[in-house]
Amino acid sequence: ALDRAFAELEKEVDASALEATKRGTSDAVEEFRLLWLGRKQGRLKQVSEAWLKSAPVEARKSIGLRFNALKPRIESWLVWEGWTSTQPTLDAEAIDVTLPGTHRALGAEHPLIKTMHEMVAVFQRMGYSVGVGPEVETDYYNFESLNFPPGHPARDTQDTLVVANQDRKPLRDRLLMRTHTSPVQIRTMEQQPPPVRIVIRGKVHRNDAADATHSPIFHQIEGLCVDTNITFSDLKGTLDHAMKEFFGSSVKTRFFPSFFPFTEPSADVQISCPFCGGKGCRKCKYSGWIELLGCGMVDPAVFGFVQGKQPAYDPKKISGFAFGMGVDRIAMMKYGISDISLLYSGDARFLEQFA
Ligand code: PHE
Repeated sequence: ALDRAFAELEKEVDASALEATKRGTSDAVEEFRLLWLGRKQGRLKQVSEAWLKSAPVEARKSIGLRFNALKPRIESWLVWEGWTSTQPTLDAEAIDVTLPGTHRALGAEHPLIKTMHEMVAVFQRMGYSVGVGPEVETDYYNFESLNFPPGHPARDTQDTLVVANQDRKPLRDRLLMRTHTSPVQIRTMEQQPPPVRIVIRGKVHRNDAADATHSPIFHQIEGLCVDTNITFSDLKGTLDHAMKEFFGSSVKTRFFPSFFPFTEPSADVQISCPFCGGKGCRKCKYSGWIELLGCGMVDPAVFGFVQGKQPAYDPKKISGFAFGMGVDRIAMMKYGISDISLLYSGDARFLEQFA
């Protein structure tokens, strides 16, 4: 009799659950819950109390257990139905694939950094490693050791920005913003005996009035190669190859006499215009050539400064070449940027174009 009574009760539960499902609203789910599990008026409570009261004492325990088993069945139905009935309908959830996608802003390499990475990579493929040095330098590394003696007129060409309150120090220790990456040549040679093949990229500072082509901060890439029997033709071959790698294999180079205190002989290097193939265009000011590099054979006097710390830099036994170029100009040419200040503006509308 008890089995039959419970089967009836379960049927009743299932029937009302089915009805609530058909209505499919959260109200129906709540009504179903109150009907069966309500604390005072709930069917489960009322039926169990009535049955237990009328049952013989020995049977009460097993009746109680069967009611306890029925409760989780009702609850699990509620959890499932309560969740699904509150979900939006499939229609409302449908995805309109014709809507434009969500735009996610992606970071990108700054055109200057990108240009430097590409140029440095050219030299790395030739076996050069990367050298670094500080942006705040001493007079010794920026000038004296590079054969700019105190008071030498060549210092005036560098438009140096100096750090304040340095005049109580000896000249060689006074701090300034490096005007070129060449001091890293000296720092590297002091750290390691020859052979050296390094490429240096970095920020440099000069007291230039800002205009479309000048900025008080700009970037250079510098190279230094020191070994036995390094000649001017090694310099020419290295730079010619590097320019072909960077700008394309049809680019030509030509060398003109120049002057730097730390190289002798020195040269300025021009490349045939990679944009018009040397025929003449706006980028090369219709000359077919673009001046890009300063270079030369390392002056023996420079090795002399290094020898105090590394005697192996004996100009009778070794020789070397160095070169330097401005990154900003190369990046501006490559990307057709007409105003250098854009490179330092941090303007997202400008930078986005390189993403
Ligand atoms: N340091 C030089 C400059 O800033 C460039 C240079 C580097 C020239 C190395 C020769 C050799 O103008």
